[in-house]
Amino acid sequence: MKINLKIRKANKFDVDSLNKLNLESFNESTMKLDFSKFIDKSNYKIIIASQKINIIGYLLTLSHDNNLFEIISIAVDSFYKREGIASNMLSEFLRNKKGNSKIILEVASRNESAIELYKRFFFNIDGIRKNYYKYPPDDALLMSRII
Ligand SMILES: CC(C)(COP(=O)(O)OP(=O)(O)OC[C@H]1O[C@@H](n2cnc3c(N)ncnc32)[C@H](O)[C@@H]1OP(=O)(O)O)[C@@H](O)C(=O)NCCC(=O)NCCS
Repeated sequence: MKINLKIRKANKFDVDSLNKLNLESFNESTMKLDFSKFIDKSNYKIIIASQKINIIGYLLTLSHDNNLFEIISIAVDSFYKREGIASNMLSEFLRNKKGNSKIILEVASRNESAIELYKRFFFNIDGIRKNYYKYPPDDALLMSRII
């Protein structure tokens, strides 16, 4: 598929599209997000992948301090999956991260696609939170990477 991909930071005009993509991407209620809460907060960063005017992917991260970052959520429109969109956004996020930075995240243990993606980016599994997700029931894997 030929995608004219643009990677950029989100702005307040993107909030509705981000909420829609988030809603379409997750069943689990704890994964549902309201992006209006993050858009103006300096410790949150939202990277967007767009094709023309359509938002087809997002990556939401939180900076806990200068060298501890958390991946809160990542999603790609199902029509554009497996085209390298998530990888593009993750690469953009990791670019320019200082040495000794730590990136942490939680992912449902049955979410093979996300786990494979993170492993591809050299994240390791550090631990497991039993029965963390309720609908559907699942454990959370705790993953991290040090740059
Ligand atoms: C996980 C997700 C973000 C991946 O997005 P994507 O744009 O399709 O990912 P990419 O195309 O960049 O894939 C990069 C690599 O990740 C792995 N991967 C991605 N999807 C995969 C799948 N369905 N099965 C196995 N490996 C997969 C592969 O190693 C892939 O490389 P390859 O295509 O060369 O084999 C996407 O599937 C998604 O939106 N899922 C629903 C939301 C979600 O679960 N988010 C994560 C939890 S916060």
